[in-house]
Amino acid sequence: MNKKVYIESYGCQMNFSDSEIVASILAKDGYTAVEKAEDADLVLLNTCSIRDKAEQTVLNRIDSLRNLKGANKQLKVGVLGCMAERMREDLLVKKKLVDLVVGPDAYRTLPALLDEVEGGQKAVNVLLSREETYAEIEPVRLGSNGVTAFVTIMRGCDNMCAFCVVPFTRGRERSRDPYTIVEECRQLVAQGYKEVTLLGQNVDSYRWNVDSRGEVKDAALPVTDFADLLAMVAEIAPTLRVRYSTSHPKDMTDKVLEVMARYPNICKYIHLPVQSGSSAVLARMNRGYDRAWYLDRIAAIRRYMPDAAISTDLISGFCGETEEEHNETISLMTEVGYDMAYMFKYSERPKTLAARKYPDDVPDEVKGRRLAQIIDLQIKQAGERNQRHVGQVQEVLVEGVSKRSAEHMFGRNTHNAVVIVPSMFHGAELEAGDYVMARILSATGGSLKGEVVEVKKGRSAMADL
Ligand code: SAH
Ligand code: SF4
Ligand code: F3S
Repeated sequence: MNKKVYIESYGCQMNFSDSEIVASILAKDGYTAVEKAEDADLVLLNTCSIRDKAEQTVLNRIDSLRNLKGANKQLKVGVLGCMAERMREDLLVKKKLVDLVVGPDAYRTLPALLDEVEGGQKAVNVLLSREETYAEIEPVRLGSNGVTAFVTIMRGCDNMCAFCVVPFTRGRERSRDPYTIVEECRQLVAQGYKEVTLLGQNVDSYRWNVDSRGEVKDAALPVTDFADLLAMVAEIAPTLRVRYSTSHPKDMTDKVLEVMARYPNICKYIHLPVQSGSSAVLARMNRGYDRAWYLDRIAAIRRYMPDAAISTDLISGFCGETEEEHNETISLMTEVGYDMAYMFKYSERPKTLAARKYPDDVPDEVKGRRLAQIIDLQIKQAGERNQRHVGQVQEVLVEGVSKRSAEHMFGRNTHNAVVIVPSMFHGAELEAGDYVMARILSATGGSLKGEVVEVKKGRSAMADL
């Protein structure tokens, strides 16, 4: 009965969070999660379709499992997540060693599907759902540091950005019952966790207790929007840091910013993907805002939280992008001054609006050159922006031992910047989960170096403000 599962996750944080739900469903079915594929009876790859490269990585990984399967004839291999949803039965045809294909809304059926697989069949379930939120499932935290955790608050996406495969792989948007979210966060606090990140593809459209026509479902219960939910989670404990991802510029309200500013334990960091600085490109992308609207949202963030850190996502070489349009992205980056950015070359995805409507006509070398220019500028700007921390005393939540040096610990400040501090303070060792006050001494590349001036074991100094 004691079977072993190894789950490998690719793609966004939501996939990593889903893997913890899968581990929970399988735990009830007699599976223990292990950390190496070699030790497992069942290997599950939780996959991503966002760009062609992401899919190629997984297809190569499947091939690399051949040896393992040769050595252990009983070993079963399953593909979960967005590639499972997008490629369906084709995956079984393309990759013969795959036994099981399960989409993101069908994880509750895993035990039954595994029974079929045990019986020597191949099994597939890629049904999407309008209701499934796995609301009451208590995730099994995988590879956890015991300090920070992800909590999924909604699933799917209704936005239909022209370049994006997510609405096809994740289905319709639906919000999870806020009381189950708060309960999960309470449990995490009880287990010693100090930080939660609330996850959704577009958290600003979180809305609970209304139907698709906007009518209230249950008059006895309040309608909860994202700002309300943020406040509910922030109220759980002043020692619990709250983060979230991802905001959408078209839906981000001042109400959310006001709640963020009000609670010291909500981190002052916003990921606000812009994709392009050109209004014409944004229109082709079907993003639902233009450059002026986006810059107004940036101004609103700065109004409520002058010191907040802002990061973004950028795509170079979307269909029809001219040199002038690319230069508008460069000028927007200069205008905003991002603390951090994820930067990508456009990759056409089957079935999307862009794939059907526009030719992928920017040559790869042009995409590459524009991307390099974007990356160079971002590195330069982030380096400059990081200097503003130097000399400040900041609260840092310690997450673990630094990867570079055993004598140092790493953590994050409210702005989500990594801070490295010596692991000894006044003869005692720091521990993961400690809140410390650190004076920032220098800023190098992606991280800050600091010295500890005070240790506040597990007690958020921010809560005193
Ligand atoms: N829900 C989030 C983004 C999820 S995907 C949002 O709306 O912002 C994460 C990022 O991947 C996107 O912001 C985008 O920058 C990038 N991306 C998505 N599809 C892509 C594609 N086809 N080619 C290149 N990058 C893409
Ligand atoms: Fe994709 Fe747009 Fe939805 Fe983000 S908001 S997941 S980019 S469709
Ligand atoms: Fe990838 Fe699916 Fe996330 S396509 S980015 S794993 S929602």
